[in-house]
Amino acid sequence: MCGIIGYVGRELCIPKIIHGLQSLEYRGYDSAGIAYISKGKIKTIKEKGKIINLEKLLNFDEEAYLGIGHTRWATHGVANKINAHPHSVGKFTIVHNGIIENYNELKEELINKGYNFKSETDTEIACAKIDEIYKQEKDILKTLSKATKVFRGSYALGIICIDEPNSLYAIRNTSPLIVAKSNEGNFIASDVPAILKFTNKYFLLDDLEIAKITMDKVTFYNQDLIPIDKNINTFEGSVEVALKNGYEHFMLKEINEQDKVFKDTINYYFDGTIDSLKKNFKFLDKYKKIDIVACGSAYHTGCVGKYLIENYGNIPVNVEVASEYRYKKCFYDKDTLVIVVSQSGETADTLAALKKAKNDKIDTLAIVNVIGSSIARIADKVIYIKAGCEIAVATTKAYLAQLAIFSLISIYLGYKSKEIKDEELYKIFKEIKQMPKLIKNTINNYESYFAIADKIYKNKQIFFIGRGIDYATSLEASLKLKEISYINSVAYQAGELKHGTISLIEKNTPVIAIATDKNLFEKTISNIKEVKARGAYVILISNEVIKEQLCDEFIKIDDVHPILESILTIIPLQLLAYKVAKNNKCDIDKPRNLAKSVTVE
Ligand code: G6P
Repeated sequence: MCGIIGYVGRELCIPKIIHGLQSLEYRGYDSAGIAYISKGKIKTIKEKGKIINLEKLLNFDEEAYLGIGHTRWATHGVANKINAHPHSVGKFTIVHNGIIENYNELKEELINKGYNFKSETDTEIACAKIDEIYKQEKDILKTLSKATKVFRGSYALGIICIDEPNSLYAIRNTSPLIVAKSNEGNFIASDVPAILKFTNKYFLLDDLEIAKITMDKVTFYNQDLIPIDKNINTFEGSVEVALKNGYEHFMLKEINEQDKVFKDTINYYFDGTIDSLKKNFKFLDKYKKIDIVACGSAYHTGCVGKYLIENYGNIPVNVEVASEYRYKKCFYDKDTLVIVVSQSGETADTLAALKKAKNDKIDTLAIVNVIGSSIARIADKVIYIKAGCEIAVATTKAYLAQLAIFSLISIYLGYKSKEIKDEELYKIFKEIKQMPKLIKNTINNYESYFAIADKIYKNKQIFFIGRGIDYATSLEASLKLKEISYINSVAYQAGELKHGTISLIEKNTPVIAIATDKNLFEKTISNIKEVKARGAYVILISNEVIKEQLCDEFIKIDDVHPILESILTIIPLQLLAYKVAKNNKCDIDKPRNLAKSVTVE
């Protein structure tokens, strides 16, 4: 989703801004633009499509030391040059991430005052409003303070004004924004990767705060212009984390990091003893109901979580997509814990669902990757996964780390509920230790999954089937495949197929069946036979040894405790999706129309 970078300092700004935009590419975008101050004038250059198109229009040696850049993911108005940011009105030029919800109201009012607009964006309206307020206030800080009281919705704004050619301003509400410091100058950015080449020191701008940034100084104010002190953060990872390390794609690199991610996440909460689980998860004891709320892949980890928590913890779990949950009637009460799951910690719908629960005084827990993100800051309790920086739009390692957390939660609750007896508990503990090796082995078998991908990549549709926890895994496997390869793919509960969808199965239609749940294995096999009888090309993934000829392709995964099994099951399916997309020459790390961090509703 939209990316913002801004710089003011002693060095030329254009190369820095372009580098920043490239580092934010993973968020997804369809146009890019830059505005900078040169020889006392604001110059704006923007272009549709990739950043490379914008680069061709720029002089990287231009004497400009202050500027703002933007990658736009179209919301209000199509992706074209006119709608691309930055937008200028009067003395101001701004870049924006988010949605100004009352823009229609403001537009009408501004048109009546003589403003007219070139683009279809809410951003141009916001810029005009800032310009209009400034005409009365004649002071930028006072103007921005007033603007934060007028704008409704979500926004992170980078603002420059020709009357102050050496200052950069920023305001935010809900949409993420950081302010970073370096010896050569200071930055604003949507996310840390944009500034990592220059500095690892940054501040998090909070809702309704204002930042004034000059070459040597950053100052923060609250909405009423009272100066505030902020703690500076240091990003611990190296610049390397944002590089591909020799892999052809970030997605492949991130799949290959999953053994380490599992280890880092587990080790943070579990030292091999039940006492460590008690220490970290005891707070769960008081809840009789759980709602898990998330979007996309994070929602799918919730589906796995539901299955595990209900089975082992004996606690009823309601799992819902955040965009639905935020508007529906919720039946939570003081005995309910609302768990939100989010890699970025910024997803607008998940954030709204979290705020709704908080407003209703329901206890909340966030399972998040990005430290200090909005969701992490608002939730009553946070469990960080240790996935590190994830760049590929299609999540892999963060998904696996979220599963690892649900495994730990389920082990603890299973121990509490006595569903898991001592002997079984120690068997699970032993297997957890072996998991990084098993994960690595599963990844290392990639050639066999790639060979299957080579056989199916030309198909127009691919089905996934499974029962119970395997159905939850099929949802994620199907999403992974369709989001990066653009092949239509549907995940179905294996037993439900015959109630309609089986009519779509014809000769050679690929059906990927997941069967790891021993209690349901025979049932799923019957469903495999049903589709096989109708000509399907069946790829079976299972931890069982298959004796009869049931399928056309077989992927054997290691047999581990059901609490850990889905962590292994997803890996061949991530790699299969990757190779299918690669064979189809798709833009694997930045699939069309998708954004890494969806900060609008
Ligand atoms: C986007 C991404 C998905 C992700 C979802 C939720 O749609 O493309 O991969 O699962 O957002 O993101 P979150 O950061 O909340 O996990």
